[in-house]
Amino acid sequence: MNELAWGTNTDLNDNQFYNRVEDIKFMSDLLRSSQYGTSPSILITGIRGVGKSALMKRIQKKFRDENYLVVYIDLSASDAYQKDEFTKESFIELIYDQIIDECGKSGITTADKKIEKYIKTHDVALREIVNVKGYPVPFLWTEKNYKKLANFVMDLPQYLYDEYKKDINGVFLFFDEFQIIKELGDDLNDFLWYMRSYIQKQNNVSYVFSGSMSVKDSLIEKIAGSNGAFGGRILTIEIKPFSHETTRNYLNEKAEYLKFTDEGFDQFYDCTKGVPFYINVFGNLLPKNIPLDSESVKENFIKFLPILATHFSNSWFRLNLQQQKILTTLLDGPLNKSGIAKKLNVTSGAIGRSLNTLLDNGLVEMENMQYYVPNSVFRAWLKNEYKMKGVYPFKSI
Ligand SMILES: Nc1ncnc2c1ncn2[C@@H]1O[C@H](COP(=O)(O)OP(=O)(O)OP(=O)(O)O)[C@@H](O)[C@H]1O
Ligand SMILES: [Mg+2]
Repeated sequence: MNELAWGTNTDLNDNQFYNRVEDIKFMSDLLRSSQYGTSPSILITGIRGVGKSALMKRIQKKFRDENYLVVYIDLSASDAYQKDEFTKESFIELIYDQIIDECGKSGITTADKKIEKYIKTHDVALREIVNVKGYPVPFLWTEKNYKKLANFVMDLPQYLYDEYKKDINGVFLFFDEFQIIKELGDDLNDFLWYMRSYIQKQNNVSYVFSGSMSVKDSLIEKIAGSNGAFGGRILTIEIKPFSHETTRNYLNEKAEYLKFTDEGFDQFYDCTKGVPFYINVFGNLLPKNIPLDSESVKENFIKFLPILATHFSNSWFRLNLQQQKILTTLLDGPLNKSGIAKKLNVTSGAIGRSLNTLLDNGLVEMENMQYYVPNSVFRAWLKNEYKMKGVYPFKSI
């Protein structure tokens, strides 16, 4: 059956996953070179909802089938992040858990014994090793032994390759939602350089980083910029939205019940900007088997804005009042810092921190000293809230 995936599903089946042929080929060729002892690192960038996670899952599946050990590590899945306590200890713990989990899935069932031996011979000063579901889990993670434990976990992928090279062709570590690493704050740079020191000496392990980062995100500079931790050693691939033509072909194939007129489709593309998340969510919400002209696409877009903009409304409600106010000054077009300050009747110095937070979480971007809100669905949602209620949904109101 032909179908559009739900907007929250990243484990797309063969029928749901569309296009990306070139991205997959390019990345696969690169990754495959790891079995010959040259392991590339890759940074996948792209705006929210463009399909980075779905692509990584796809590549994971493909390489699992070719006997690679592919560990998918979603930073947002860590307990610590969800409790607002993301630290380097919790990150290392997450990596360890996911490696062990993937070993289990790949049928490397003897890994536990070997890891246990490794832990012992490498004198990882653990208070105890407890068995969780049959796997040895180093315990406790104290401040004091963090360094040794981190070294151990960072060494583990190459170790597994060396031990199991008869069975596996290579080891890949995929990090998703990597922008969360910014929560390390002052420790961030040191930590990235620390990771690099391991990654660099592992010949058969490839690392792929991805997350919701626009090309202008400061984290990208820290990772892949010329002075960044991986500068010159990491390949950046930007995943682009679907083109007008790809979107048209996609919907013709998967959602023939959407009966767009030519103008109706142009309007649909203008609303979704070719971002698969919006295409699928909006495509699933639009009425089926009735003609959709430009007007009715527009009406439905406004009607469904609260659903389409969920990511952003969630982010909005977590901002403080000043951050929210800054955003509203940018809805009619870009402004420089003093322009924003003037509109808010405050000094430029007073908004510096809030602006940096907004840049950090990607709600605002800057180019040539001009700040703007890059996401059109977010802009449309805020403007529509104002239009309907006469006031923005500010924190204290
Ligand atoms: N290749 C594809 N074919 C069809 N649908 C896709 C494809 N890629 C993504 N989608 C749709 O878009 C949605 C969002 O994709 P995904 O979560 O991978 O984006 P993302 O770039 O990881 O977003 P975020 O930045 O929020 O993490 C998916 O749930 C799916 O519905
Ligand atoms: Mg994602």
